[in-house]
Amino acid sequence: MIKKKIGTINELDKNNQFSRWVNDHDILIYKHDNKIEAISNICPHFGGPIGYHEIKIVDNKPVFTCLWHNLQFCIKSGECTTHNNLKLRKYNVEVEDEAIFVYIN
Ligand code: FES
Repeated sequence: MIKKKIGTINELDKNNQFSRWVNDHDILIYKHDNKIEAISNICPHFGGPIGYHEIKIVDNKPVFTCLWHNLQFCIKSGECTTHNNLKLRKYNVEVEDEAIFVYIN
């Protein structure tokens, strides 16, 4: 497991989310309920971008909606809420001062 800097917290000011490639991982950083988390930005369906849209609340749950075919994913667990057996990978995040780090296998 390696720890890599992915960005800074002020990059979340504008949209509450941004994505970036780090060591061959396309990672979406987002802020929700004042918590900063990270999830794969690549849809497990056919590889569409997860972070194109902002977080939406559906049935009282915050979800990301993939741009390509509109599958939705729980932002907390990464599980797909509209299709069985698909799940986005979550990454551990650490914030130190202004910097955001992710842990990558
Ligand atoms: S590629 Fe994401 S829903 Fe199909």
